[in-house]
Amino acid sequence: MSVFHDSDKNIFTLRTRHTLYQMRVGPGGYLSHLYYGRNFESKSRKSNQADSLDYLYLPGDHGFTTNPYELKAERDWSMDVLPMEYSAANTGDFRLSALNLATRDGVWGADLRYIRHEILPGKYNLTGLPSAFDREGNAETLSVILADKATGIEINLLYAVFEEQDVITRAVKIKNASDKIIYLQKAASACLDLPFGDWDLIYFYGRHAMERQTEREAITPGIKTISSRRGISSHQQNPFVILCDKNSTEDFGDCYGVMPVYSGNHKTEIERDQLDSIRLVTGIHDEQFTWKLNPGEIFDAPEILFAYTHQGLSQLSRIYHNFIKNNIIKSNYPESSRYVLLNNWEATYFNFNTDKLLKIASQAKNLGVDTLVLDDGWFGTRDDDNQGLGDWFVNEHKLPGGFDYLIPKIHEMGLNFGLWIEPESVNENSDLYRSHPDWALTVPGRKPAMGRNQLVLDFSRPDVIDYLYHIFADILRKYDINYIKWDMNRCLTDVYSHAFPADQQGEIFHRYVLGLYNLLDRLTSEFPDVLFEGCSGGGGRFDAGILYYCPQIWCSDDTDAIERLTIQYGTSFGYPPCSMGAHISAVPNHQTGRKTPIGTRAVVAMAGTFGYELDFNKLSEQEQDEVRRQIQDFRQYDKLTRDGDYYRLALSKYNHRFTAWEFAAPDQSEALVSVVMTHPTANAGPIYLKLKGLDESACYGLKFEFFGNLVPADQIYGGSRDGRKSYSGAALMYAGLTIPALFGDYPSARIYLKKI
Ligand code: GLA
Repeated sequence: MSVFHDSDKNIFTLRTRHTLYQMRVGPGGYLSHLYYGRNFESKSRKSNQADSLDYLYLPGDHGFTTNPYELKAERDWSMDVLPMEYSAANTGDFRLSALNLATRDGVWGADLRYIRHEILPGKYNLTGLPSAFDREGNAETLSVILADKATGIEINLLYAVFEEQDVITRAVKIKNASDKIIYLQKAASACLDLPFGDWDLIYFYGRHAMERQTEREAITPGIKTISSRRGISSHQQNPFVILCDKNSTEDFGDCYGVMPVYSGNHKTEIERDQLDSIRLVTGIHDEQFTWKLNPGEIFDAPEILFAYTHQGLSQLSRIYHNFIKNNIIKSNYPESSRYVLLNNWEATYFNFNTDKLLKIASQAKNLGVDTLVLDDGWFGTRDDDNQGLGDWFVNEHKLPGGFDYLIPKIHEMGLNFGLWIEPESVNENSDLYRSHPDWALTVPGRKPAMGRNQLVLDFSRPDVIDYLYHIFADILRKYDINYIKWDMNRCLTDVYSHAFPADQQGEIFHRYVLGLYNLLDRLTSEFPDVLFEGCSGGGGRFDAGILYYCPQIWCSDDTDAIERLTIQYGTSFGYPPCSMGAHISAVPNHQTGRKTPIGTRAVVAMAGTFGYELDFNKLSEQEQDEVRRQIQDFRQYDKLTRDGDYYRLALSKYNHRFTAWEFAAPDQSEALVSVVMTHPTANAGPIYLKLKGLDESACYGLKFEFFGNLVPADQIYGGSRDGRKSYSGAALMYAGLTIPALFGDYPSARIYLKKI
């Protein structure tokens, strides 16, 4: 039991193993927030008891703040000052609103008062949206109904408590309980007030081929916004954010995570108000958003995953990693060994034919690869990226005999077969566009903005979704395809649907996402054995909504191992390493021109899904031998890197020399530490690391491997550094480990630890 209502004090208390969340129906029936943070209750406390934390809020008349009508004489209780559970516009809370609406009679905003609540076993569902599922059967839901008399809007605030996982999910269902049309203007999923403290914001920004760079800054007075209006969650600003105590580190300090399970336009606003309290409001972006709610209709706002820990950023990440693996990703793939694939994109781009593919595949098989993925260019007239998107029929000039010939041939070699698709876009130069120009998002009378010379299909239209479902379901039914890479290569503009009336055009951005989820849901449910990888020009749609359907997402179009260090580092704050598509590509790298040792490229790719994206036939024999070894290594470490606890140990942005990370088995039996030297310096001291997640009373045997042009490692260590075969977990964690400075261009080290 993790949700409690105390009817005497009128408080709701939600408990997870380490967190406590409390709210209260206060004066006038306002639902005010009391606390979210560390669970400080003693274990012996009876589960239906909870102290009310409303003692924290001293009455005060702050001037130019407003009071509920009922309290006009007292003036020391204001919804403009006190923490609220879900804020609405135009009724006296001047901080960020979660809700705004307008009726046809011109009434704006809502005065939300408590009506009733329910405590339900299990987890709520959201219509048409991905959301966490209760795999372990231990979730409990609190549903609180608030309503506004003047407009008849009814808000169902939903909280699902995952006690063991330390996660509270939140969502909102908004019902028009009146007999007149209501237009929602803003329908955020959650509002979180942090009344006290000194907080930093951590967020993940970037650009195409440089996603999820980490930024940490103090929350200063005013409003900071992290958002996307691109129709995708975006390369530029990932929806996941963290609020953490100013003094928090990887290992210590109060941290809150806020992760929308949504893949479209999002907006998280963080306000520091006149009394230095923090309010965070998160959900669908309200620009170009209006939702027409007919009488009786309900709008479901996407889910947000909230987590809190007092144990620092590293623990916060592990809470999300485990939760995403167990309660978000619905595919079984995170639990099974991953494919080692060869993707032909950087090997051939559009320039391939059957013979070339078979040659690449045969060499891949020789070296130990198990899956060939055929990327862009196999369909229609797709000889470059200006044409053919939308015509999902095999190009028989390139691939004579089509898939009937190619796919069995690949399987005969003992390889799985994977296929790239981009269902959401269309080129003007395609039969699909010529026959259905109204299926693309375009504004009447205006030439659309182009991106990669393509348009976006109108996924708000059920006929478009049905058409694409039949196209891809037929391909998957007919051929033995084991893997699909689902790409999306431009942002949405000219958002106008030729199928909807004028007063519903503000719904199209969100309806697009609902259409996308509908198509993903139908295909992934019908073909559960196919591994779907998400992609949007690399990591332009790396979010928990996509992860629900696709257990992995191509992390970035930047395959440079050194650039990947910061991209994967930033991504790891919210998302598990096993969800990050990561490949070894050729040098000089196609995005940066940098040359890195092939061993270092493998060390970096092993912090993700691991695979290749080059032509093995162009590698030297020595490099091919190295590939063979890498694949064996990957198979040895696969389980550890998939199930292990992940620790960020160092980032070269901060130490100016190297980046390091560690996977530790949850049972502490083994660990894998990786170090990549990004900036070797002259006459440098050793690399010093404190390891984590080990059993302090156990001894670990260490195996060192070094990659790149550097001091001959075996001469230094010969398998153990100073004659000793092992070190204690306590020594490695508290005194640390030193390895010599590595020389040369981007060398790396990998240390495997096994309990002995
Ligand atoms: C996107 C993807 C790449 C590749 C190309 C093909 O950019 O991120 O991996 O599939 O499209 O056009």
